[in-house]
Amino acid sequence: MQRILSGVRPTGGIHLGNYLGAIRNWVTMQHQAKESLFCIVDMHALTTLDASENLAENTYTIAAAYLSAGIDPDRSSIFAQSHVPAHTELSWIFSCITPLGWLNRMTQFKEKAGKHKDLACLGLYAYPVLMAADILLYKATHVPVGEDQKQHLELARDIAGAFNRRFGEDLFPIPEPMIFGTATRVMSLRDGTSKMSKSDISEYSRIELLDTADTVAQKIRKAKTDMEPLPDTFSGLEHRPEAQNLVNIYATLANMSPDAVCQEFAGENFSPFKHKLAELMAETIVPMGEKMRQYLSDKAELDRIMKKGAHRANELATAHMIDVRRAIGII
Ligand code: ADP
Ligand code: TRP
Repeated sequence: MQRILSGVRPTGGIHLGNYLGAIRNWVTMQHQAKESLFCIVDMHALTTLDASENLAENTYTIAAAYLSAGIDPDRSSIFAQSHVPAHTELSWIFSCITPLGWLNRMTQFKEKAGKHKDLACLGLYAYPVLMAADILLYKATHVPVGEDQKQHLELARDIAGAFNRRFGEDLFPIPEPMIFGTATRVMSLRDGTSKMSKSDISEYSRIELLDTADTVAQKIRKAKTDMEPLPDTFSGLEHRPEAQNLVNIYATLANMSPDAVCQEFAGENFSPFKHKLAELMAETIVPMGEKMRQYLSDKAELDRIMKKGAHRANELATAHMIDVRRAIGII
């Protein structure tokens, strides 16, 4: 793997889905890639920012999450997107070669804009173009994300191809999405058919990385399940989305296969399973939250790490933008 890049929006409430679907995979990939960059995409957070949110604090929180999960700042660059101005420059260039038809297909815009599309801001609509710029600015070859980002990644590939064809050079490699593991789509604890998300109004729908052991145990206890016992294979959980979700979470945290988890609890109801799952989280997720709190108590150290990351990111971006401007004819 040449170069990996990924990011999380600093929108508050970083959760288990972000960790299992994305960040956890970055931790292993950073050792396999020649270069890795992990961005805190604050410009993306602006597209949905409301007055109650503290963007600065959220930005530090995501940096703390990356570090606590095991991203090594001596190996990978951790930085804020806004600290590398070339993201927005490249985004503008891409917005001039991206047909509206491509953006009109984006399902995330439709979900986030809701019923009143005309009131949604231009930034929300252009969001996937900025994401393409995040990736291609560094000529990233591999992008580890959760399943929900697949469509955005396809758009980034299309934009790379469009640029290369238009300006007659293979300037951008076509980035490969890396969507893997047993938790590419962690579901809500209240509804196994909707994605665990920061924006769900119910806090009981998600495990947040900063939750205490007591809160985690309570959320797991209240998680929706059904009355049936657990089967001995994962395929026996068909049409039981909440049960599938909990088994997948367990399997991922315990580094087991979903089938092995079912075998361990076969024939039992959910009560002992939930008890064990809460214990597993107390050993894996809760200590990460404690580490995050430690990092958050030393903002100067987080600033230092993000400054170092931004320095490297700017180095790469500056060199690539010279090629981009030359290819286009910007003097
Ligand atoms: P959210 O969707 O919670 O607002 P982001 O959009 O910042 O969070 O997502 C950051 C990363 O986390 C992306 O790679 C995304 O695919 C992944 N992700 C978000 N929610 C989930 C989920 N429920 N399951 C798996 N991965 C997820
Ligand atoms: N759009 C991604 C999300 O909502 C976050 C993101 C922005 C991203 N830029 C990126 C992910 C670049 C990977 C690469 O989750």
